[in-house]
Amino acid sequence: MTEKIKIRGRQVLNGVIPISGAKNAALPLLAASLLSSEKILLKNVSPLADVGTMLSLLGEMGVRYVVTDDSPYSSTIELHADSINNFVAPYDIVKKMRATILVLGPLLSRFNECTVSLPGGCAIGLRPVNYHLGGMEALGAKISLKDGYIYAEAPRGLKGAEFEFPTVSVTGTENVMMAAVLATGKTILKNAAKEPEIVDLASCLNKMGAIISGHGSDTIEIQGVTSLHGVDYLVIADRIEAGTYAIAAGITGGRVDLIGGNFRELLPCFIDKMTQAGLIFSDIDNGIRVISSGTIHPIDIETAPFPGFPTDLQAQSMAMLCLADGTSNIYETIWENRLMHVAELSRMGAEIKVSRCDQTCVCHACVTGVEKFQGAPVFATDLRASFSLVLAALAAEGETVLDRVYHLDRGYCAVEHKFKTCGVTIERIKK
Ligand code: EPU
Repeated sequence: MTEKIKIRGRQVLNGVIPISGAKNAALPLLAASLLSSEKILLKNVSPLADVGTMLSLLGEMGVRYVVTDDSPYSSTIELHADSINNFVAPYDIVKKMRATILVLGPLLSRFNECTVSLPGGCAIGLRPVNYHLGGMEALGAKISLKDGYIYAEAPRGLKGAEFEFPTVSVTGTENVMMAAVLATGKTILKNAAKEPEIVDLASCLNKMGAIISGHGSDTIEIQGVTSLHGVDYLVIADRIEAGTYAIAAGITGGRVDLIGGNFRELLPCFIDKMTQAGLIFSDIDNGIRVISSGTIHPIDIETAPFPGFPTDLQAQSMAMLCLADGTSNIYETIWENRLMHVAELSRMGAEIKVSRCDQTCVCHACVTGVEKFQGAPVFATDLRASFSLVLAALAAEGETVLDRVYHLDRGYCAVEHKFKTCGVTIERIKK
């Protein structure tokens, strides 16, 4: 069944939005359940398609789990990895979601072997996994690639070592950190990612008995232990979802209270930039208030690893800057092909010129503000791009129909419900 979303333009967001648990924290936490034979209880998990994909992979391996929906936007998941009988992540599941590579570290660490399909390229970039594999090899794993699969083994167990990531990698850091927790001796990860989701994973692993320090800095130290115990853990709020709804308030000239996290700490650069663009942020209990000043100013953005401007908010920010009173420059430095929303935004009236900087994978979009968007049939090319089109549609004149909504459902839950409570109607068409 294909689904589309119909969006009437000129709507104003006004209300309170509870932010769900972070997708990019929940996925490694779910994979970490493979590290212990005891009960893992994860609370505040967002009911997303990507979470379902990770669960189906864990299920194939023998993890037993129960999902309890606490609300339309939050679930509790109980997992038991005490009878793992299959160490293979098959292509059919891996091709749906690259984050399934996150089972590599835990399986290798606890069971000394695993076979994981090589994730292919994806819409936003080539996305190789060489750093993940390099990190495992540094810990003593033997890796071979055959027939599209990664065969990894460490018959005598993994051994702590020093490994420096050539460039910062979020899931790479998570994968090698999970591999190192049950290795013998000490591991030092240099040029590690500092994202809040890394800190969340390390905090959960420490609660399970791991000995990790330095998470949140670029050097992480892991002292291996022999086993990990069960845990009851609350997933952090999704900073990307929060940023997305902040932009929804900005682009529609509205206001919103985002509840569920310390978003100033989670989104430092984003909040600075959006303040320059004309959004007004103020602290409220367990969250942040965002109010549109009525004008959108042009700004320059360069995406970077945390604490820099998140690539996962680039597309949504671009939608807003299309309506600024001047010209903005956006540099995408993480993913070489993450400007696919430009073509669709342009069909809605945006004026954007894209160029590729020589000898780097940096893409530059020069965005000249226009007075308005015009509703149009558009299609989503990837997760964050899909929401940029929803945002443009809310501000547009006329109606927009967004196709390929499955991209949106991978990373945003209960979108209609959350918008509705803020006076915004979007309609899902199933046929
Ligand atoms: N890279 C390599 N080799 C590797 C790993 C990465 O060359 O082995 C390169 C990538 O090609 C990219 C850069 O390093 O150019 C950074 O990639 P990273 O590994 O940090 O990305 P990721 O871990 O695959 C996570 C998020 C992405 C987010 C990026 C950057 C998860 C599950 N995914 O991906 O989230 O864009 O970090 O912050 O955590 C999204 O949620 O929409 C999304 C794409």
